[in-house]
This record gives sequence, C-alpha cells and structure tokens, in this order.
Amino acid sequence: PRAIWLTRHGESEYNTQERIGGDSGLTHQGDEYAHALGDWVQNHDKHKDNFVVWTSTMKRSIATAQYINNHKVNLQALDEIDAGICDGMTYDEIASAMPEEYAARAANKLRYRYPHGESYVDVIQRLEPVLFEMEREKYPILIVAHQAVIRALYAYFMDIDAEECPYIPIAMHTVYELVPKAYGCNNIYNKSAV
Ligand code: F6P
Repeated sequence: PRAIWLTRHGESEYNTQERIGGDSGLTHQGDEYAHALGDWVQNHDKHKDNFVVWTSTMKRSIATAQYINNHKVNLQALDEIDAGICDGMTYDEIASAMPEEYAARAANKLRYRYPHGESYVDVIQRLEPVLFEMEREKYPILIVAHQAVIRALYAYFMDIDAEECPYIPIAMHTVYELVPKAYGCNNIYNKSAV
C-alpha cells in the first residue's frame, strides 16, 4: 500500500474501568473520536475514496469506524490479545487473585500466554496472513484495532525488536501514519505525524 494508518479503537467502557479484554461499547469520548476519525478520512481529499478500512470484529473497533463511509472489512485476526481466564479483570485484580500469573507476565511479557488465552507471540503469529494481505493491497489501509495488535503491526513495519513490542507506547485517539521509505529495505517504514 502507499500508506498505512494505524489506530486503536476509541475509548471503551472497559478502558475507563481499567478492565482488559471484554467486548464493551464506546464511551461518549470514544464516540467523539469515531466522529473525528470519520472527519479525518473525509478531509483526506487526495485518498479519501480509495481508503480501505480494516477493523477487528469487536464492537469497540466497529463502532470507531462507523462514521467512515469507505469499504470496510472486519477481521478476527485483528481482535485484541485474548486474556483467557483474566478477561474482564483489572491488572490489580489479577495481581491479587493470581499473583503467579501476574509475576510470570511481568517477567516475560512477550512469551507469557494467559491461561486459555494468548501471548504476544501468538498475536504476532496470527497477524502473519494479515501482513501478507497488507503487502498486496494497493490502496492505503486504515486499521482500527487494539493496543496489543497495533503494537505488533507497528513493530513489524518499523522493524522494532519483538522483545520491545509489548512495551511500545500506543496512544489512544491517535492515528499513526506509516509511509514506505523511498530507498528502504522491505518492510521498513517511516513514521510521520498525522
Ligand atoms: O487495556 C486495553 C487492552 O487493549 C486490553 O484489552 C489488553 O489486554 C491490553 O490492552 C493489552 O496491553 P498489555 O499487553 O500492555 O496488557
């Protein structure tokens, strides 16, 4: 693609409660971001009709893209890291109810797999077919997904070491633009502000 835009979904009910996972809807602030994102696409006059929009299958991502009129696809591979038995908990609740799990994740966030859930390594692996499709896509792509998924995609395109991937700061209510480098190797993108 000529450019890739990455964004997390707008603020969800669970975000405000600091709960992980779940499938909650957007808050008022999150809905305002969805509107801003719709306006942002409309104001991108050069590309606006050619954008393809890929979201996860979760309510909060679909709702974040709801004011964009372009072609949209919902992909399960873009769903947030599955926190398994910890889904719906806060980090504090996990630390007190399952201190060993909490410590194991802190010790190796990249490889730690939530019981009945996923690790970052699992997420990186399930994104491989998406990356393959992204490389083939000729139109600019806007991806609306989740913190761990955006970290994994960002790390891939920015050539950031996998060990660092789980710690990359990805701000909410922000679009990250990745532009292919003119003389770069494969998969090396520059980041530019939007
Ligand atoms: O808190 C939002 C969230 O998307 C959770 O659903 C998810 O478990 C978490 O972020 C991933 O971030 P981290 O790997 O830092 O816990």
